[in-house]
Amino acid sequence: MRHLPLLANHPAGRAAVTCRYRCGDACFHDVPNTSGNPYFGDLVDRRTALKAGVVVAALAGGAATTATTATTGTAAAAGPAPRGLDFDPVAPNALDAVVVPDGYRHEVVIRWGDPLFPDAPEFDFDHQTAAAQARQFGYNCDFAALLPLDPTGRVNLLVTNHEYTGEPFMFRGYDESRPTREQVEIAWAAHGLSVVRVDQARDGRLTPRFSPYNRRVTATTEFRVTGPAAGSDLLKTSADPTGARVLGTLNNCAGGVTPWGTILSGEENFNQYFANADALADPRLTRYGVTGTETTRKWERFDPRFDLAREPHEVNRFGWVIELDPTDPGSTPVKHTALGRFKHECANVRVAADGRVVAYSGDDERFEYIYKFVSTGRVRKGDSKAARRHNMTLLDDGTLYVARFTGDSPAAEIDGTGTLPADGKFDGRGEWVPLASGDRSFVPGMSAEEVYVFTRLAADRVGATKMDRPEDIQTHPRTGVVYCALSNNVDRGKAGKEGPTEPNPRVNNKHGQVLELTERGGDPLSLAFTWNLMLVCGDPASPDTYFAGYDKTRVSPISSPDNVAFDRHGNLWISSDSAGALGGHNDGLYAVPVSGPERGHLKAFLTVPRGAETCGPVIGERVVTVCVQHPGEVDGASADNPASHWPDGGDSQPRPSVVAVWREGRRIGE
Ligand code: FEO
Ligand code: CA
Ligand code: CA
Ligand code: CA
Repeated sequence: MRHLPLLANHPAGRAAVTCRYRCGDACFHDVPNTSGNPYFGDLVDRRTALKAGVVVAALAGGAATTATTATTGTAAAAGPAPRGLDFDPVAPNALDAVVVPDGYRHEVVIRWGDPLFPDAPEFDFDHQTAAAQARQFGYNCDFAALLPLDPTGRVNLLVTNHEYTGEPFMFRGYDESRPTREQVEIAWAAHGLSVVRVDQARDGRLTPRFSPYNRRVTATTEFRVTGPAAGSDLLKTSADPTGARVLGTLNNCAGGVTPWGTILSGEENFNQYFANADALADPRLTRYGVTGTETTRKWERFDPRFDLAREPHEVNRFGWVIELDPTDPGSTPVKHTALGRFKHECANVRVAADGRVVAYSGDDERFEYIYKFVSTGRVRKGDSKAARRHNMTLLDDGTLYVARFTGDSPAAEIDGTGTLPADGKFDGRGEWVPLASGDRSFVPGMSAEEVYVFTRLAADRVGATKMDRPEDIQTHPRTGVVYCALSNNVDRGKAGKEGPTEPNPRVNNKHGQVLELTERGGDPLSLAFTWNLMLVCGDPASPDTYFAGYDKTRVSPISSPDNVAFDRHGNLWISSDSAGALGGHNDGLYAVPVSGPERGHLKAFLTVPRGAETCGPVIGERVVTVCVQHPGEVDGASADNPASHWPDGGDSQPRPSVVAVWREGRRIGE
């Protein structure tokens, strides 16, 4: 019962139901990173930091000063909006609804339980079965991609992850101490991914269709393990003596679309599914937050592979980036070991000038790291089957790096008293430190195989920089600048924990920041970079927030940036996962220009219903889609006492869904 004392600091004295199902209590357990990496705060010269009031005045003085609609905390655009961003921001709210700008329409595209195949039954909340769920849209959609199947863009494949299950919200009268086999098997079938054809009407509206491409991947679908750790003893189990065949994928959070048309997806909080870690007392497990005896969902009672005392290596087969070819419904998805094993939020690929590919991925936990992988092989052009087969091997051979941020810039800290940099800029330098390449390790005392399977420990040893929960990472389609959402970290600066650093400048960081990383020479293969903080999120009225120097009286409040995406004009879109951290307001999708005079002018494009998180934004020319994850997931609520009735209304149960937003006869933001 090692976590009892650690839960004592929760207001309720115990971890909330929402936290336990969502991330296995990642926020309540003590952080697994206890390594003594260089404390970034030791490296910077604090003497040059300025006091808050001075800086805020300077920032406000440098931009337009017209304050509007201060009562809502948002502002209408004054003057011409940048291309693609001509909409009136949605005001913060706590409604049990999706709210979009005036003139826009929205509709649910697909929701938990909707049939994906002609033989699948309609959803029936009170008569769920595992067999039905395996043929229906899964629970808690997070990442989404919309891939055109034809040149008109009218026929698309929608691919979504299903990150986790919230059993108390899925089953009336759910007894957490005694889940039934059927409930557990429903949960296995509700995890994973969905592929479904969606047709786009002329106005942008999306309609799901049955098609031969439709597919469910679940916690029991077979995966092939590829790359340098495939076949490793560390991955062998009694059911799989090859160490190269794994059943299922778990806790798939964000992801990415590759240039060759496949989907990458990050296995995030996999630790929470494995029981009896304490009996093993293995620091390599502890470093991943694999601790405790029983799991929240009790799967270990129904399949011994979730019991570490019986299958100590099964846990090593999760925490990878997976790749799925949605155009080949019979294909076996893969787990790419060359990208390392950690709580992968995502993986996003960029092609270098010479054809090598670079994949960025964040490890989403407090004080974890940002990684980059560079392939040895080069991308093959064209969309032939042979080209795709080749390209799907690129992430199996290359070099894995971790980011180290160096503190030789002017001190740029918000130290809890609201100190901002004098010139309104956060800027610094950094380097990519190699961990392993093929079967060669660059980490003293660890074999390459160990580096791939226990990547967090390898990164600890090379002094990687501890970040405030690295979430989604995307490169700007034109400039190549890398944008990383750093969601939050309330432990920053707590006793015994690392204090503020330049890229993580705020103690008790509830609201997160968005980091811009520019590879030297714009070359993604470079091992050196510069960086800047574009946003320090929160209430714009608070002195410890920063919106790229833009007039803060005109921006929308935002907390806990999670997913990032770009529109065709190069504007950055950010979805948030704040769990009500900003005055109890709902989460949303925000858009902000990254260049020009409007840089930093962040506006809320939509908000999601009570208890939900906004995920998986896809910004098209005529339609924006988001995943509305875990509507109604608030403490004290359950299927017996639902806090949301979205989307079906009345006294219905909330259902995680994909939502499309469009505007009749107009393009998005025009
Ligand atoms: Fe599942 Fe990092 O959010
Ligand atoms: Ca999520
Ligand atoms: Ca996420
Ligand atoms: Ca999230």
